[in-house]
Amino acid sequence: MCGIVGYIGRQEAQSILLDGLKKLEYRGYDSAGLAVYNGETIGVKKKEGRIVNVESLLEEQSLLGSVGIAHTRWATHGKPSDRNSHPHMDHEDKFAIVHNGIIENFLELKEELQAKGHTFRSETDTEVIAHLLADAYNGDVVETVQHIVKKMEGAYALAIMSEYEPDKLVAVRLASPLIIGVGEGENFIASDIPAILKHTREMVILEDGEMAVLTDDQIQVMTTEGEKIDREPLHVDWDIVTAEKDGYDHFMLKEIYEQPKAIRDTLTGRIKEGIVDLASELTLSQAEMEQIDRIHFVACGTAYHAGIVGKYALEQLTRIPVEVDVASEYRYRDPIITERTLVIVISQSGETADTLAAMREAQSRGAKVLAITNVVGSTIARDADEVLITSAGPEIAVASTKAYTSQLVVIYQLGLYLAHIRATQPRTEIEKMVEELLSLPLKIEEALKGADILKMLATELARHNNLFFIGRGLDFAVALEGSLKLKELTYIHSEAYPAGELKHGTLALIEEGVPVISLATQAFTYDKMVSNIEEVKTRGAHVLGITTAGSVDLQRTADEVITVPQTLPLFSPVLTVIPLQLLSYYACIARGFDVDKPRNLAKSVTVE
Ligand code: M6R
Repeated sequence: MCGIVGYIGRQEAQSILLDGLKKLEYRGYDSAGLAVYNGETIGVKKKEGRIVNVESLLEEQSLLGSVGIAHTRWATHGKPSDRNSHPHMDHEDKFAIVHNGIIENFLELKEELQAKGHTFRSETDTEVIAHLLADAYNGDVVETVQHIVKKMEGAYALAIMSEYEPDKLVAVRLASPLIIGVGEGENFIASDIPAILKHTREMVILEDGEMAVLTDDQIQVMTTEGEKIDREPLHVDWDIVTAEKDGYDHFMLKEIYEQPKAIRDTLTGRIKEGIVDLASELTLSQAEMEQIDRIHFVACGTAYHAGIVGKYALEQLTRIPVEVDVASEYRYRDPIITERTLVIVISQSGETADTLAAMREAQSRGAKVLAITNVVGSTIARDADEVLITSAGPEIAVASTKAYTSQLVVIYQLGLYLAHIRATQPRTEIEKMVEELLSLPLKIEEALKGADILKMLATELARHNNLFFIGRGLDFAVALEGSLKLKELTYIHSEAYPAGELKHGTLALIEEGVPVISLATQAFTYDKMVSNIEEVKTRGAHVLGITTAGSVDLQRTADEVITVPQTLPLFSPVLTVIPLQLLSYYACIARGFDVDKPRNLAKSVTVE
């Protein structure tokens, strides 16, 4: 989720690259850097932090030249720092590259290159690519690129320049977006349209396994096998604001649709030989993992709801007792913590004051704290004992969507990893679950296809001032998240209830026409859930059922039914939350409120 810009032409590259980076800063802002060819060598300036930091460096000494590449980073491998910033170069400074994505086999490649005498300057996976190029260079940059991509596993969008052939830029793509901007006497590379929209509206979109070779007056598109491709540029007539949202009306909608990618990225590099392997990310020893005798999930809001799913998941997979706490309550309730307690804090931003305070409290009482966060350089990521990153990329909308589903996936990964280490699940079962986990991105894509019906249902829902979400077990956990999403976006009062608990009081609020969104995906409690739906229907409720494809009883009982693809009951929250996110989004639009900035709320809550 970083940003790439490349320029080759007749103007000074520096200002074009800087300007492009600023348009992409919302995609990543841990560090930024530029590489420009000055007629003799490639000069690089890069700096941790926001783009203004590298801009200050350039004010002291500019990079002169008309060929260059630039990058703004959202850290995944290697903490945010000057040396981990892109561009990266090989040990002889002949190649400069910027990269979005993750090279999964970088450790293996790095070891091979080190054995050949290459010295590395960063902790990133990316640097290995520059060294691979230098190592394989045969007098032809294009052929060299085609040769080295065969060795790389993972995802990449790359912009490459070389001192050997400074009159060209090479762009390559696999599973990470990259576009080529067509100019007159100049051409551009960008990971996202806004970066170059000011200069051109004619764009060539690269597909997976394709590359482009740019000079100032030519663009040659080809496969990485060298097969030439004739591709007409696409005319883009978006304004800059639409372009920042990839053409979506709001960041929230864009982020909802980014979930398949966020999940894929979060899974990347953590599955080895059919099981989850977190050994390279966690420092906990096998003995420490075996000794854990209780787990506390601590978080706020949506992240807290991910923790509730976490309780079900970790108890089922590892049989370790799990408690879940709202962070602002945790430190004041005198929790029972020992050295064998693992406290898992979940925070998209990694800066939430309540979560941070709870984390410090747990650490002061001797617990190990494992953070699940989306921001590598955040305070929580830095100060936790262990960190597992969600690779959702920057989440801009206040209402959290892709961070939540990515948090769930990390929790499942952790559960499956601990289950393997502690031998609480047979390996064959773990392998089956991992396979199912890998199928979730495609299933989310399927669930997203229900958007049109949800839009219609949401318009009707938006007329009400009161509604309920019910479910049992994991469906209740998702009901809580659905209800929060609806409240924060539409300002409609809603409550989430465990379906069996309604009759102990809240059922009194059900009257003619009250919408009740009922989740029923858990086979174990399905019949009971259908009876609970009958209870509210009898009192006049209008029921929208959310279930998995093929559930016949619910189709008969509910007024409307939305189905999501089938998956293991444990993983269903990743899918059932999708229609609830869309429902809240469209209900917010129907009520005419600000989707991305709900009233009274902030993206990152840094006060207790
Ligand atoms: O950054 P965090 O995950 O720590 O934020 C916690 C909550 O403030 C956050 O999840 C909030 O509830 C969501 N924005 C709601 O959509």
